[in-house]
Amino acid sequence: MEGRREEPAVPGDTQIDLTGKVALVTGAAQGIGRSFTEALLRHGAKVALVDSNKSIGEDCKKALDEEFGAANSLFITCNVGSEEQLKGAFQKTKDFFGSLDIVCNNAGINNENKWEQTITVNLISVIRGTYIALDYMSRENGGKGGVIVNMSSLAGLFPAAHGPVYTATKHGVVGFTRAIAATSKILGYGVRINTICPAFVDTPLLNSVNHEEIMGKYYVFKDAVEKLIQHYGILENIAICRPSLIVQGLMKILQEDELNGAVMKITKSQGIHFEVYETTLVQPEVK
Ligand SMILES: NC(=O)c1ccc[n+]([C@@H]2O[C@H](COP(=O)([O-])OP(=O)(O)OC[C@H]3O[C@@H](n4cnc5c(N)ncnc54)[C@H](O)[C@@H]3O)[C@@H](O)[C@H]2O)c1
Repeated sequence: MEGRREEPAVPGDTQIDLTGKVALVTGAAQGIGRSFTEALLRHGAKVALVDSNKSIGEDCKKALDEEFGAANSLFITCNVGSEEQLKGAFQKTKDFFGSLDIVCNNAGINNENKWEQTITVNLISVIRGTYIALDYMSRENGGKGGVIVNMSSLAGLFPAAHGPVYTATKHGVVGFTRAIAATSKILGYGVRINTICPAFVDTPLLNSVNHEEIMGKYYVFKDAVEKLIQHYGILENIAICRPSLIVQGLMKILQEDELNGAVMKITKSQGIHFEVYETTLVQPEVK
C-alpha cells in the first residue's frame, strides 16, 4: 500500500497511511479484531466491524466513535458461520463506504465440545470470507486488488493436544491461505493473501481453556496449558497507546507487497518472524 506518514502517530507505531482504504474485520468487537480495527482507523482507513456479539460490538463502536469519529466505522451484527449474513456484511460495507481494500478474516472460537461449530467459524467462514472478498477485490472480476489476512495460530503449525479440532481448523487456514495466495499470484487477481499465526494472546478467548463446558474431555489439560502459557508467555493486545506485536504484524503485511502467501508467526520470545517451507511442488502455469 502506497503512501507513508512523516511521523508515527504513537511510539512504536508503523508508518503507513491508509487514508482512502476501506477494511472489513470479522470478530472486531473485542480481542485481536478490536485491536486490528483501532489500528486501521488510527492509520486513516474506514472500517466495517463485523461481529456476532451485538452488545459488545455496539459498545466498541461507541468507544471508537469518540476516538476516530462516527463516520469512519460501521458495526454490522453478523454470524460469520451464516453464508447469507456474511455475504450481507460485505454488501453493506461496499454500499456504505463505496469500496473494499482490506479484509481480515479474524473471528474465531476455541470450543472442543461444539467442535462442528469450531470448524464452521474458524475454517469454513475464513474460506468463504476469502472467496467473497475476492469477488469484490480480484482483478478477474474488475476489482482493484487488495489484501486479505486470515487469522490462524501457532496451533496451525504445531499440534495442540488440548485442542485437536482447533488445531485442525488452524492448519486448514494455513494450507488454504498458502494455496489461494499462489492461485491469486498465478491468475493475476492482484490480491495479496496472508495468514498470521500468533502464540498466546491476552484476549477473552484465552480463558476458554478454563471452562469444562467448552473444552469437554480436553479440560484435563487445563493445568498443562497454564504451564505452556507460562513457558511461551502471553502477547499483549494493545492498539491505542502502544501497538502490540500482533498489530505490527498486520501493518507489516499491509506494507510489504512481496509477502503474498507468507505465514507470519508471532511469539513473545522471537517477535515477528516467518515459517520457512521447502519448495516441493512446481506451481502450474496458466496461459
Ligand atoms: N487469543 C489467543 O491466544 C489467540 C492465539 C492465536 C490465534 N488466535 C486467533 O485470533 C482470532 C481472534 O481471537 P481473540 O483471541 O481475539 O478472540 P476473542 O474471543 O477475544 O474475540 C473473538 C471475537 O470474534 C467474535 N465471534 C466469535 N464467533 C463469531 C461468529 N460466529 N461470527 C462473528 N463473530 C464471531 C466474538 O464475538 C469476539 O468479538 C481467532 O481466530 C483466534 O483463534 C487467538
